[in-house]
Amino acid sequence: MNLFLELSPSSSGPTVYFITPTYARHVQKAELLRISHTLLLAGDVHWIVVEDADHKSQLVADLLAYTYQRRVGKSFNYTHLNVSTPNEFKTSSNDPNWLKPRGVWQRNEAIHWLLKSGLSKGIVYFGDDDNTYDLRLFDEIRKTKKVSMFPVGLVGGLLVEKPLVDDERGKVVGFNSRWKPERKYPIDMAGFAVNLAQMVSRPGGVHFSPLVPRGYQETYLLNQLITSLDEIEPLAKKGSQILVWHTRTEQPKLNQEKKLRVPSNVGIE
Ligand code: UGA
Ligand code: MN
Repeated sequence: MNLFLELSPSSSGPTVYFITPTYARHVQKAELLRISHTLLLAGDVHWIVVEDADHKSQLVADLLAYTYQRRVGKSFNYTHLNVSTPNEFKTSSNDPNWLKPRGVWQRNEAIHWLLKSGLSKGIVYFGDDDNTYDLRLFDEIRKTKKVSMFPVGLVGGLLVEKPLVDDERGKVVGFNSRWKPERKYPIDMAGFAVNLAQMVSRPGGVHFSPLVPRGYQETYLLNQLITSLDEIEPLAKKGSQILVWHTRTEQPKLNQEKKLRVPSNVGIE
C-alpha cells in the first residue's frame, strides 16, 4: 500500500460546511487553533463558527482571519456568528456536563444561516470544538447523498460507537451503542453528515430542540431528514474505521494562578 496515496487529502468534491459551536473558556483558543489546522488541510471547507455569546469576540474574529490568511488557494472560507444560550439553559461550571444540552442554539443559528443563504450544494457536518478529526473524515463525508453515518471513537462509554453494517446489502442494520440504545439513532453528534440538498428540501427547514431528553438531539434532527435505517449511507470502510474521536479537554489547573496578585497572562491574549 502506498502510504502517501492512502494519507493524501483530496480536495475534490463538495464544500464541507463545518458547524462549530464554541464558548469562552481558558482552553477555547487552543481548541479552535487545533481544529483550524485540520480544516486548512481538509480540502474545500467552509467553517461556520457560532459563539455562545451576546457579542462576537475579538479572539475568535482574529483566529478566523488568521486562518483565512493561511489558506491554500480558495479552499478555506468561514462565517462568524453568535447567539447566546438563554440563561435558564446555560451550563454553569458546577453543573455536571450532561445536565443541559450544549450547542443547540448555536447549531440552529448555523442551520438558519445556511438555509437562508440560498446554497444547496455541500455537506453539513456538526464538528464540536474539542473533538479530533482525521483528514480522511472529510473525504468520506463528501460522498454523502442524503445522510451518512460512521464510527466515533471514545464516546458513549465505549472505545467506539458505530453503526452495524450488513456486509452484503451495505446497509445499516443497527448500532453497537450501550448508552440509551433505545434511541432510534443512538449515535453522537460527530457520527453523521448530511447533504445540504437534503436539508434544503425539507419544508420549513430542520432544527435542534433544547427540550428533548438528554441524548436525543441527534435522533430529533435525523427524524426530520430520514425515516428509516435503510436510508443511511454507512461510511468509513462500512463502519469499521474511526475517523473522529469524541475527545474532551481537561480543565486546566490554575491553583497557582489564584495566588498571584497580577495574573501571569497580563498583556497576553
Ligand atoms: C456531547 C456531544 O458530543 C455534543 O455534540 C452535545 O452537544 C453535548 O454532548 C450535549 O450534551 O449537548 P460534550 O463533549 O459533552 O458533547 O459537550 P461539549 O463539547 O462540552 O459541548 C458541545 C459543543 O457545544 C462544543 O463545541 C462546545 O464548545 C459548545 N458549547 C458548550 C457551547 O457553545 N456553549 C456551552 O455552554 C457549552
Ligand atoms: Mn465535546
